[in-house]
Amino acid sequence: MADHRTPVFLDCDTGIDDSLALLYLLSRPDVELVGVASTAGNVPTDVVVANNLAWLDFCGRPEVPVHPGSPGPLVAPLRTAEDTHGPHGVGHSQLPPATVTASPVDARRAWVRAAAAHAGDLVGLAIGPLTNLALALRDDPYLPARLDRLVIMGGAFGVPGNTTPVAEWNMVVDPEAAAEVLAAFSRPDAADVLVCGLNVTEQMILTPDDLARLLESCDGAPLARHLADALRFYFEFHRAQDEGYLAYAHDPFAAMVALDPGRVESSPAHVAVELDGTLTRAMTVADRRGLLGPPNARIVTAADTATMMAELVDALAELAGRTGVESRR
Ligand code: BDR
Ligand code: CA
Repeated sequence: MADHRTPVFLDCDTGIDDSLALLYLLSRPDVELVGVASTAGNVPTDVVVANNLAWLDFCGRPEVPVHPGSPGPLVAPLRTAEDTHGPHGVGHSQLPPATVTASPVDARRAWVRAAAAHAGDLVGLAIGPLTNLALALRDDPYLPARLDRLVIMGGAFGVPGNTTPVAEWNMVVDPEAAAEVLAAFSRPDAADVLVCGLNVTEQMILTPDDLARLLESCDGAPLARHLADALRFYFEFHRAQDEGYLAYAHDPFAAMVALDPGRVESSPAHVAVELDGTLTRAMTVADRRGLLGPPNARIVTAADTATMMAELVDALAELAGRTGVESRR
């Protein structure tokens, strides 16, 4: 019988909200998680690899390949965000280390292979810096035509940045990679690109009440307790930034959009990344008038984030409940 699951290739820098996105994908029986590329960003690549392996192992999904990515950005020196995501990228959580190891296939090759193996069907989901995808595009310039769609968490459109006054973290870590990716998807036969910037992802607010509901719905299953430990750190970080005791769920928002693009409003634009500005480096520039070229992306402009958050909590609780039964702890 044909497999009707949606093949998804995830590229992430896990990371607390990356963890939520990964677990959300695992919660969905209609998703075939083809691979998980690990990129340097929130924490160094080896830590991202360890986190991805640990979540997958904990959830009883060790067969999903985790691909180590580039140790750093294309040009810029690597910067990481342990202040945001904790010393190991998962907040206060002490995930048991995985018993499985990373794939021998690096992230750059894995992108190319996944796109070829699922030509026309693959959903690419990039929720970290775009280094691995940029490198893959150098190897396979035709890759944009092989995807079904690419969903990116990154950029800030009409709102301030979260890392510089005008730029968002994933863009700041590797602006050259982001610029290369967006340029590569400007080819006329490229798959649709949906960009989820801070203008929408900062509407996807996870509160202690949401976390309480998650824990209650699965009777405090071990997976949910790890998430609680991770999220407590994220709440504390946001409070330290004067945002309140809450967390922006940037990456799971993008994951939900990737699986159902029709649930959000978006508008076409030519999106480019500033590389030279002294104050504006890594800023995403959206041109809706065709001055820079035809549209190469759709910018997500609105979403029912309250409904999305409720669904996210339900999905994570269901996964945690299921995992609690099978967990090693
Ligand atoms: C993005 O930056 C990272 O810290 C998060 O994981 C998310 O992908 C938000 O700006
Ligand atoms: Ca991320």
